[in-house]
Amino acid sequence: MKNFIYDIPTKLYFGKNQIEHLPNLINEFGKKVLLTYGGGSIKRNGLYDTILALLPECEMIELAGIEPNPRIETVRKGAELCKTHDIDVVLAVGGGSTIDASKVMAAAAKFDGDPWELVKQPDLIQDALPLIDVLTLSATGTEMNASGVITNFATKEKIGTRSYHMYPYASICDPTYTFSVSKHQTAAGTADIMSHTFEIYFSHEEEVFIQDRLAEGILNACIHYLPIALQEPENYDARANLMWASTLALNGLTSFGKGGPWTCHPIEHVLSAYYDITHAVGLAILTPRWMAYILNDQTVERFAMYAEKVWNIPSAGDPYAAARLAIDKTYQFFLDAGLPMTLPEVGITSDEFFDEMATAAASRLENAYVPLNKNDVVNILQACMEP
Ligand code: NZQ
Ligand code: ZN
Repeated sequence: MKNFIYDIPTKLYFGKNQIEHLPNLINEFGKKVLLTYGGGSIKRNGLYDTILALLPECEMIELAGIEPNPRIETVRKGAELCKTHDIDVVLAVGGGSTIDASKVMAAAAKFDGDPWELVKQPDLIQDALPLIDVLTLSATGTEMNASGVITNFATKEKIGTRSYHMYPYASICDPTYTFSVSKHQTAAGTADIMSHTFEIYFSHEEEVFIQDRLAEGILNACIHYLPIALQEPENYDARANLMWASTLALNGLTSFGKGGPWTCHPIEHVLSAYYDITHAVGLAILTPRWMAYILNDQTVERFAMYAEKVWNIPSAGDPYAAARLAIDKTYQFFLDAGLPMTLPEVGITSDEFFDEMATAAASRLENAYVPLNKNDVVNILQACMEP
């Protein structure tokens, strides 16, 4: 196990009615609040009204319309608002896109240059306004990590930036706020949680028993509770387990002592930068193809462990057969959840940019679990064109 420092400064308020803590949390910083949210789901489900009613003393400056795959232009707007209105605290209410964009706004509020520089060079982030969030979608883990992923369509780049200053000060995670999430976003969010877990689980660091069992527990929770949440959107236990899974999959607990570059995320980020597709749908499409592509004598034992611990497929005797069956089950699970499982289904009907995209992705895959070059990425993308 590698050395690590366990330091997660975010306070997490988990469960029903935890929003009651919001006034006290905001009061720790002041009265001028930048309230950020997305395309209006918080107005439709009543959360917006709840929040305004809880904070009557505050001066609320609003930034609405943060887009899925949040854009640098929106971050620039938010940073400007923080500076013009001398904001005390940023309150982000929404899914990963709203929270990610708000993290970078909070950092950019304390920076003199263009916010895109903070995305390209995380070391430039030396300070940030405090950020409090109310999570409404279980997926990214942004509620308890230091990352924010921003897209610049002008340069066809989608990049994650990261800084200790961008950890949320507090996150309110009430699973009832996810009752209104559509079946499609519920399935996609779960695919994201599972992908984060896979990216960390498939590593060459073998003696990490605790991290591995935690990862398998998260995957088991996703496999058990996603079908329930799809059938019964207001099933509290299903929503609660998915929400906690989203946090645990990417707050460091499964990766401390391991580390190492990821594979499907860098490829997906290029797909999103070119085609603006839903992050987790891209991951669901890529993941089983990546797994099949990298199955070899060096990886088969770990895949057989995945088969046994997560899908109850005995691996004794024929680890390759167990591994292949587990990969098929992963594909089938996403398909059964209603996710599109080919690139043409999400509008990528030709391979005209595959070379370009693969070149961009491959530069980040040299040290991956199984290192991939440009041709490997093209092969994986080609495999995603057919069911
Ligand atoms: O914009 P609104 O109207 O709020 O609607 C959103 C959006 O259309 C809707 N939604 C959210 N909560 C809802 C709801 N609809 C009904 N009821 C609710 N309670 O869902 C749609 C998607 O929202 P979004 O925030 O884009 O989804 P998600 O949480 O999956 O975030 C995706 C973004 O996070 C990045 C992704 O790349 C992508 O840009 N990631 C961030 C990570 C991080 N910070 O650590 C890691 C991830 O790997 C990922 O890259
Ligand atoms: Zn992700």
